[in-house]
Amino acid sequence: MADRLTGLQAFHHYLFGPKLHYIYGTKDKKGNKYHGNAIERHCNRLLRLISFVTNLVYYNLPFIGIYLYRNDYTIHQVLVPILSKQALGSIGTLLTSLYLLRGLARYNDNEYSKFIKILRESEKSEPSSRARNMLAQYDFDFKAWPVDYYKPDCKTGAQTKLTPESCSNKNGSRNPGSVVNNYPIEITKYCLAHLFGRRAVFPGSTSFLQAVIGEYLDEGRRKLVEEFGGKRAKLRTADSNNLDSVFVDRRNSIEENGEILVICSEGNAGYYEVGCMETPLACGYSVLGWNHPGFANSSGLPFPKSEKLAIDAVISYAVSSLKFEIKNIVLYSWSIGGYCASAGAMLYPNVKAVILDASFDHLIPLAVDRMPESLLSLSTRPGDIRTNRGNDLAIQLLMSRYPYLFDDESMPIIRAWLSADDKEGRRAVWDSLNFEKDIRAETYMDQYVIKHGIQFPMEIGKDLEFGSKIQILLFLVTKYVIDFEAVHCQPLPPTHFQLPWFHEP
Ligand SMILES: *[C@@H]1O[C@H](CO)[C@@H](O)[C@H](O)[C@H]1NC(C)=O
Ligand SMILES: *[C@@H]1O[C@H](CO)[C@@H](O)[C@H](O)[C@H]1NC(C)=O
Repeated sequence: MADRLTGLQAFHHYLFGPKLHYIYGTKDKKGNKYHGNAIERHCNRLLRLISFVTNLVYYNLPFIGIYLYRNDYTIHQVLVPILSKQALGSIGTLLTSLYLLRGLARYNDNEYSKFIKILRESEKSEPSSRARNMLAQYDFDFKAWPVDYYKPDCKTGAQTKLTPESCSNKNGSRNPGSVVNNYPIEITKYCLAHLFGRRAVFPGSTSFLQAVIGEYLDEGRRKLVEEFGGKRAKLRTADSNNLDSVFVDRRNSIEENGEILVICSEGNAGYYEVGCMETPLACGYSVLGWNHPGFANSSGLPFPKSEKLAIDAVISYAVSSLKFEIKNIVLYSWSIGGYCASAGAMLYPNVKAVILDASFDHLIPLAVDRMPESLLSLSTRPGDIRTNRGNDLAIQLLMSRYPYLFDDESMPIIRAWLSADDKEGRRAVWDSLNFEKDIRAETYMDQYVIKHGIQFPMEIGKDLEFGSKIQILLFLVTKYVIDFEAVHCQPLPPTHFQLPWFHEP
């Protein structure tokens, strides 16, 4: 009995406490599902059924309304029986008895009692770390999980404003190639968000998808916690969303990359439980995964502003709670997660690197010319390679960093190079150029950097003739773009997870 909370006040924790799902295993103990006793199970089942029916009615109110109207029911006829004393009374009695029964059942269950006591301990304003660690052994409704980290404000101001204008205004004149015509993009974004709905852009935020793959998510989370020692945490953003995250610490392990933290931003139907964390984990990095607002157990909706505040909270948590230096943080993203990664790089330009996998352009140029010390590597994935949006992304990145290497003549060449299917294709592009001399681009670049330092945009190419410019440009392309044959949804193999190339004379 020692483990039970006692007193009438305490009993309400048993009545309304969160559902307990699973107790994680440790090295010497296997994890097990929490079943509770038969009474708790039946009560939970009935409560679920009631909530399902209520939701069903609620979401179908318009259709029910039309049906009743067509069949000449009046509002009076419908509402009076529903709102009658007897009806309300029996529903009330039913619910009360279910909650009471469940509360008693939980009270009599050792496992649940132990859990609720630890939960209460952890909810105190300054919980002991022992209580927090013990709580982490339980998988329960995430809504009831205490907040681990709160980022009340976002870095704002002109420097970090995430608008397309801030990109093109920033010396478009000096950088003519990078003038992006933003209006179509803005209009498209608006339509996507409001006309087709964010559901189309972020299917991962629909409850339908979550219901279908819920079990895989639970399994994935178990694997991260039990096999990798993952630490789950709830991060609260400046717009009051709660993000679900998990952190795998490799700092004190034999893994040589453990000192570096890779923060993974998932795609539009991706969750950390089953997402791109896999790759950096296999490479021995410390890894922090999180779910977009509205995805699985993260609250909110994935609109650009909340996405930005979300990545801000995640990086800030990594720095202030997990104690990683910003220069040891790599932002890694898959597909549309590239938006978060680039927003993150704008807010924290000193990150070690940004790696975008299977990403595309549009939102990216905003970030690119704002991250002088960060690096960027792109892996492009073919379909028809010419239509690969990764190519546009690569070109825009290079253009903003090395504007003088670009002109009307170099553009078709670089496009042809990026569109080539394989080595032979690129060889053919090279041969067709008939360079008079090989300027040894790498050496040239090194010497340039020694002389002028590294600062973007670089003025390299300002007084070079065409052939030399192209050679440098093609050299840079081979350094910036990793080409990897795959379909969009295939995870990046660990061998391709490389920190980006950087000017290092
Ligand atoms: C950058 O662009 C602004 C206008 O957008 C201009 O006033 C400013 O002189 C430019 N700065 C440089 C260094 O070219
Ligand atoms: C949310 O978290 C709970 C417990 O951690 C889990 O059982 C549930 O499946 C999660 N929901 C989704 C949609 O992943």
